[in-house]
Amino acid sequence: MKLLIIGSGGREHAIAKKLLVSPKVSTVFCAKGNIGMKKDGIQLVDISEENHEALIFFAQQNKIDWTFVGPEIPLLNGIVDDFQAAGLKIFGPNKAAASIEGSKEFAKKLMEDNEIPTADYEVFTDYQAACAYVKEKGAPIVIKADGLAAGKGVTVALTLAEALQALTEMMADHRFGKSGDKVVVEEFLSGEEFSLLAFVRNEKVYPMVVAQDHKRAYDGDRGPNTGGMGAYSPVPQISTEIVESAVEKILKPAAAGMIKNQTPFTGILYAGLIATANGPKVIEFNARFGDPETQIVLPRLTSDLAEIISDLLNDQEPELTWSDQAVVGVVLAAEGYPGDYQKGLAVPEFEDLTVYYAGIVDDQGMMRSSGGRVLLAAAEASTIAKAQKKVYQALIKADTTGYFYRKDIGAKAQK
Ligand code: AMP
Ligand code: GLY
Repeated sequence: MKLLIIGSGGREHAIAKKLLVSPKVSTVFCAKGNIGMKKDGIQLVDISEENHEALIFFAQQNKIDWTFVGPEIPLLNGIVDDFQAAGLKIFGPNKAAASIEGSKEFAKKLMEDNEIPTADYEVFTDYQAACAYVKEKGAPIVIKADGLAAGKGVTVALTLAEALQALTEMMADHRFGKSGDKVVVEEFLSGEEFSLLAFVRNEKVYPMVVAQDHKRAYDGDRGPNTGGMGAYSPVPQISTEIVESAVEKILKPAAAGMIKNQTPFTGILYAGLIATANGPKVIEFNARFGDPETQIVLPRLTSDLAEIISDLLNDQEPELTWSDQAVVGVVLAAEGYPGDYQKGLAVPEFEDLTVYYAGIVDDQGMMRSSGGRVLLAAAEASTIAKAQKKVYQALIKADTTGYFYRKDIGAKAQK
């Protein structure tokens, strides 16, 4: 099989790498990908993920068996609808189904209609009304811009002043543009956070092993929210019962609800969950694989990812098996991220770690940093403690001048 992956980050690197393991796969193209992926034999295609027409032409010319979409933007732009209209196979939700991620209001209504446990919320388009509601509810409280705001549209406000400031920035100062015209004000949920992803085809849900991301920039969950600074799997403090309850009460009703909505979902469904005292509750749905969760979860998959996707596209039962190994992955970010950061840094090498490249460019054949999150370095071992030790020993030995990374990825699993 010849496959095409849309996207260019660490998540797409991990997906492409796993697909290449399959004896059935001869070639994996990635559009646009990044130069770091070439090390693993992934072929780069210089077409933007927004240029559906050129991607379709490429897939036809190169007889691509099917295409896999990594990021949310092309999904929300209807890349699946466009490929299907051209008679091409593609795995991911269509534009309507991707609204489960693209619109918080859509996701909240789906949960309400299907009794899926989530934080209580109200939607506001009026700034004064939102302020009045927040004053009535008090802090802690969560403020979310409806629509996408590059992962930065969420404020977990611990004080009333912080909450009101977030509303002013979003609704009065339009810091996130149109995304802030509509704001969701949500109850603060207290508990361990975890990510549960599943392969979904209409009503069928095939869950993956869970992972825990670290969203804050600095050790001890301090600092600003980021796209994710590292992750690990398994998550021993999240019991099998909690995961089962999340599958039964969250993922399956969500898939069923999407059918009732006439927006059936096929693709990767990502539930960002909090294990509260009253069971798991949803903080967000995504219509795609998570980054960095994918880099942690896919190495634990022992069955064939290419066969799984092919089976789902052909309406057959996929086979999913997982290893007991632990994986810990640490993101190496440019100093200053998620604020302003330097670009063009040399990219370090690591002994005995698996590296997934993200914010990397080709500088005359050399790898240079171009993004905030530059790469994720991961280690696999029989326990989380061993994997942690392995990853940090190699990171300490490397020259990481100009970069920073969290030193406590996986620490919560050790308590
Ligand atoms: P999101 O972009 O929706 O994933 O939110 C970013 C981060 O904010 C999440 O990973 C959580 O750590 C936190 N968060 C979001 N919603 C809530 C909530 N209702 N209660 C507590 N924390 C939340
Ligand atoms: N790791 C969080 C996300 O992919 O949305």
